[in-house]
Amino acid sequence: MPDFVRDADGRVPVAVFLSGRGSNFLALAEAAKAPDFPAKIVLALSNKADAKGLESARAMGIPTVAIAHRGFASRDDFDAAIEAEVMRAGAQFICLAGFMRILGAPFVGRWEGRMMNVHPSLLPLYRGLETHARALADGATEHGCTVHLVTPELDDGPILAQARVPVLPDDTPDSLAARVLVEEHRIYPAALADYLKA
Ligand code: GAR
Repeated sequence: MPDFVRDADGRVPVAVFLSGRGSNFLALAEAAKAPDFPAKIVLALSNKADAKGLESARAMGIPTVAIAHRGFASRDDFDAAIEAEVMRAGAQFICLAGFMRILGAPFVGRWEGRMMNVHPSLLPLYRGLETHARALADGATEHGCTVHLVTPELDDGPILAQARVPVLPDDTPDSLAARVLVEEHRIYPAALADYLKA
């Protein structure tokens, strides 16, 4: 694991990237209120100015920034702009929490070992989108979520934590997503804490 510069309380400053609702952001931010949690959320960053997660961050007094990816000529230019915000905030680590932009390989390489993601499936099953609908279509009897380190391959990288839930006979993608989300909120802060423990 890389060395992290910690604040005076021994906590690693973390930026959370999100694109929407932000419930995983909230789970991380709530967990980080505990005095012994090894991370401090110093920035909520979104590619969507109207992301609900940014409202939650503002309500908690966490700095926010929104950068629309459309304004940039290339992926690397967008990645450089968000990286500048991460540096400005003093973050040493990035948590992706429903961030629906693919980050370029150069950016991911620079943050190797210092960026985590939560994904709503039992990886390596169901990389990408529509994971709940695809699990139902396959007749899966079990589904779940994964926290992993981010590598340039989409939804790949060393797995840090997983949680399983049953698929019930009358499940819809929404009911299954809700059951999985409860587990995301549990394992993401726990995996972050485990990883950053001094
Ligand atoms: C979560 O289910 C997360 O696992 C998923 O988006 C949702 C975001 O919800 N992420 C991905 O699919 C990324 N590949 P949230 O905004 O309420 O945290």
